[in-house]
Amino acid sequence: MSLLEISKLSKSFDKHGEKVNAVKDLSFSLEQGECLGLVGESGCGKSTTANIIARLLREDTGDILFNGRKISGTRLLKPVGRELQMIFQNPQYSFDPRDTVLSGIMQGAMSYGLWDKKTLAEKALDTLSFVGLKASYAGKRMSEISGGECQRAAIARAIICDPKLIICDEATSALDVLVQAQVVALLKRLKREKKMSLLFITHDLPLAAALCDRVAVMHGGKIVEIGGAKCILQNPREPETKRLVMSILPLPGRLGEAKES
Ligand SMILES: Nc1ncnc2c1ncn2[C@@H]1O[C@H](COP(=O)(O)OP(=O)(O)OP(=O)(O)O)[C@@H](O)[C@H]1O
Ligand SMILES: [Mg+2]
Repeated sequence: MSLLEISKLSKSFDKHGEKVNAVKDLSFSLEQGECLGLVGESGCGKSTTANIIARLLREDTGDILFNGRKISGTRLLKPVGRELQMIFQNPQYSFDPRDTVLSGIMQGAMSYGLWDKKTLAEKALDTLSFVGLKASYAGKRMSEISGGECQRAAIARAIICDPKLIICDEATSALDVLVQAQVVALLKRLKREKKMSLLFITHDLPLAAALCDRVAVMHGGKIVEIGGAKCILQNPREPETKRLVMSILPLPGRLGEAKES
């Protein structure tokens, strides 16, 4: 059984009186422990898809099975919230700048009522170390740390809940190239050591190919090509995929041997 099964998902918006089909008859699945890249040019429907899966948006039609359970047809589902975590492009906006890093990390788990405060604080310190932030960061304010450190804190806040799936929506796009490579290396470790399943959304095909097992290319709300990451990058079949390969020049060694910190 796949961890996530999407069938014939559709969502349209009314944009200045015109109907926009943001997602149209979209179907794909994501296996347990798999990292699937969802790539495509701006406006092709990636975030709409992610937000529907995370129940931040409601689909018009279609079915979503998550861990064997139907989650479509409902609005916000608390149990899905814990098992499915999202990491966004600008994590600064989802933390209170006055919070300390430690309380920011504990926030999500606290809202699901997981563990008592002492256990949670211990877990938060372990998680802080896992994402490569020194223990001295625990007491810093969120406003005092860099964008890359903030993204590490967002990853910590997601993984402390022990989710089954993490959706990263352009989670590395706002970071400079070196920090981006470090965060990608951290996500790789997450996958390897914690067997985490990831839906990695980006417009950057080489980046997706460097991290993911498979890549799905979206265009106009649909998937036009899906397959092994290296194969899609080296041997793109569809014109939209070819355009993505051409549009981004992979910088030599950009992600090569990047260390996490
Ligand atoms: N709330 C909304 N109201 C109206 N139109 C919307 C809304 N959200 C998304 N759209 C439209 O739906 C389409 C898909 O948008 P979406 O944000 O899913 O694209 P995306 O692939 O994530 O793009 P990007 O790479 O720029 O983040 C776009 O045409 C967008 O303008
Ligand atoms: Mg988007």
